[in-house]
Amino acid sequence: MSVQLTYGVRGSEHAAPDAVVRFVSKKELIHGENAGPIIQPQIDEALRGLYAKGLFKADPEQTETVTTLGLYPAAHIVFAGVDQDGGARGLRLAAAAVAKALKKFKAEHVQILLSEALTNSVGNDIGAERAAQALTEGLLLALHVRQPLKREQNERFGLKDVAFVPQGTAIAGQDAPLWEQGIAKGKLYVEGVNLARDLTNLPGNDLTPERLAYHAEELARELDLEIEVIDEWSAAEQRMGGLLGVGQGSINPPRMIVIHYKGDSSTEEAWGLVGKGITFDTGGISLKRAEGMQEMISDMGGAAAVLGAMRIIGELKPAINVIAVIPTAENMPSDRAIKPGDVLRMMSGHTVEIVNTDAEGRLVLADGLTTAITRGATRLVDVATLTGAVSVALGLEATGAVTNNDELFKQVQAASERSGERIWQLPAYPEYKKQIRSDAADLKNSGGRYGGTITGGLFIGHFAEGLPWVHLDIGGTAWLDTSRGWEPKGATGVMVRTLVELVLQSK
Ligand code: BES
Ligand code: MN
Ligand code: ZN
Repeated sequence: MSVQLTYGVRGSEHAAPDAVVRFVSKKELIHGENAGPIIQPQIDEALRGLYAKGLFKADPEQTETVTTLGLYPAAHIVFAGVDQDGGARGLRLAAAAVAKALKKFKAEHVQILLSEALTNSVGNDIGAERAAQALTEGLLLALHVRQPLKREQNERFGLKDVAFVPQGTAIAGQDAPLWEQGIAKGKLYVEGVNLARDLTNLPGNDLTPERLAYHAEELARELDLEIEVIDEWSAAEQRMGGLLGVGQGSINPPRMIVIHYKGDSSTEEAWGLVGKGITFDTGGISLKRAEGMQEMISDMGGAAAVLGAMRIIGELKPAINVIAVIPTAENMPSDRAIKPGDVLRMMSGHTVEIVNTDAEGRLVLADGLTTAITRGATRLVDVATLTGAVSVALGLEATGAVTNNDELFKQVQAASERSGERIWQLPAYPEYKKQIRSDAADLKNSGGRYGGTITGGLFIGHFAEGLPWVHLDIGGTAWLDTSRGWEPKGATGVMVRTLVELVLQSK
């Protein structure tokens, strides 16, 4: 599905739109009689009537679709509440609500009116380019849903073209380049997020570690990036005991994937982006319960986020260096699988006592960090569906963060504010590390129930060799049972846009 997005009246000339969208702020409705026109006198009156009865209050994410019955040259008008002071996040949410409303009546040709008040207030606040990007993201991200693999392909809702049309023409012309840039950037970001979602939604039998490596190779080829796919033999030569240990229970062998993006040869600085790529997590010998286990196809959501971000970075070509690392394995119970009590020697040389084979993510990520460091990474960010505990701590509203460097975390936080993907930092007091001390090895792979997200994070941080590092636990945010805002049910593609914003800040 490719939606054509344009700015200005030109784009809307060719066909009468099925629907016109008008963002409405509370302010516009509160002023009642003294308020200016919205769209058309009779329709305005109807809308104000709904407001008076408390039925349409222009709340964030609220929409009201009215049939125009000839009063306006479009069959439908979608009024969408917008928080004018809500910044990019407010616009992204409003546009996502619009997408859902448009879906209901299968609109194909759409005009989105930009009132002068909205244009002015966002212009002063976040600027036209970011506003355009946020609206594009909200609209397109909310339209993307999981495609079931059914015998009969069900017909897809086909939004074909959307024109953003400023009302009050004075500034339209001079803003056009900014809007067009913002739209283009938004589309690019959405492509990256949707790649991550599509990969994550693939069933485990379609997406083994080898298949994930194949997708990474395709991506690298398209973007003309250097890629290494390290197989189990080469991993053994490089002593990747964590990756091999987790992978040894499965007939589908593990892979370590490394993609190199070199945008600045004048510096040794390089981001290491490491994504957990467990293509299916049964728990291994410490087997998970059956209920909900199918969700564990999303245990490579971190890997998908890194690949989605690389797609965007590869297209934008910023002057920075990025090393993307994806340790990928399938966590299975079998006669060959690791078991509690086993001790693994990791790529770094550290040893780990396995106390729970379901704490597998940190084992592959440890070797992922070491791989990134040996390839030249100087600051590290890992993204992982690491713990169920993170949703006990934060619910499903935020990604949990653990870091060894507050400066780097601040950068991550700034990136997250731009992307609208919430991140909450957890404490990382040195005392927590006592929980993962072992009598048998340097570390054990689980610190027990208390502070599970923190001890899991600190385990990974042990392999950062003192480099600045931030861990992002997307255990609660990578997969949803019900859609919300711009995120669909199933894979969300969370952290793709945050990673991109993060590395772009440093260029
Ligand atoms: N992939 C899971 C974490 C997870 C569970 C993410 C549910 C999203 C939803 C991870 O490998 C895991 O099993 N973690 C254990 C850690 C424990 C054994 C220390 C957990 O959270 O129970
Ligand atoms: Mn697990
Ligand atoms: Zn897992």
